[in-house]
Amino acid sequence: MQKRSTLLDFRSKYDRGEKLTVVTAYDYSMALAVDAAGVDAILVGDSLNMTMLGRENTLSATMDEMIHHTKAVAKGTKQALVIGDMPFMSYQGNPRDTLKNAGRFLKEGGAQAVKLEWGVDALAVTKLLVGNGIPVMGHVGFTPQHVHQLGGYHQQGKGKEAAVKLLQEAKALEKAGAFAVVLELLPKDVAKKITTSLRIPTIGIGAGPYCDGQVQVLHDMLGLLPDFHPKHAKAYLRLHESIRGAVKRYAEEVRSGKFPPAS
Ligand code: KIV
Repeated sequence: MQKRSTLLDFRSKYDRGEKLTVVTAYDYSMALAVDAAGVDAILVGDSLNMTMLGRENTLSATMDEMIHHTKAVAKGTKQALVIGDMPFMSYQGNPRDTLKNAGRFLKEGGAQAVKLEWGVDALAVTKLLVGNGIPVMGHVGFTPQHVHQLGGYHQQGKGKEAAVKLLQEAKALEKAGAFAVVLELLPKDVAKKITTSLRIPTIGIGAGPYCDGQVQVLHDMLGLLPDFHPKHAKAYLRLHESIRGAVKRYAEEVRSGKFPPAS
């Protein structure tokens, strides 16, 4: 049986200067394909609230939903590291609840690490989880769980003061024990400065080419949502059109009697 990558494998690649590849997945069949492609890590992102559940933003994803999807991904993953995304308000309450929620990703979901977004409690939570054996990936810059506070989906870290603040947050996460930090929607030079200042990997999305690795939302890469094409994403396929075409052909063949064949 093939063994899943560990944090040490992730770290070794970073130490060797190899780019790290991370992509989201949310169910068993997609995890099988993504894992077979050989990515380093699969993030069960709370973006599933939009991509899989059709909701407006990530805020209403629940712990039970995240665990349900994480279990399915873990089942389909043989080689990649699996990281579960802590949903909004699952790590802002009392430490006991935070620990319990994070622990569920490892105990029930089969993930090896969790990700959490920057916020007033992020450092204390990171220390708490890491101290209890739960590896943490941080997330700074545009943090989708703060979409209302940030006033929409905008680039962060513009201007010297904002850039310095992001660098301080990323450094503080490193000090608190995070094993990596996602940098989302930042000017590329700010991401570069953070990347060269840290001794843990930065994983960029909409943050330019100088991060230690990249993460993409699978549905954006595959063109699965017909009306959503974020600027920072590259669609390697137009799967929505392919699926629509295939199902249309199937329906036509059933109606015309071509499928199933008589013999
Ligand atoms: O939920 C998610 O998919 C994420 C990535 C955009 C990093 O947090």
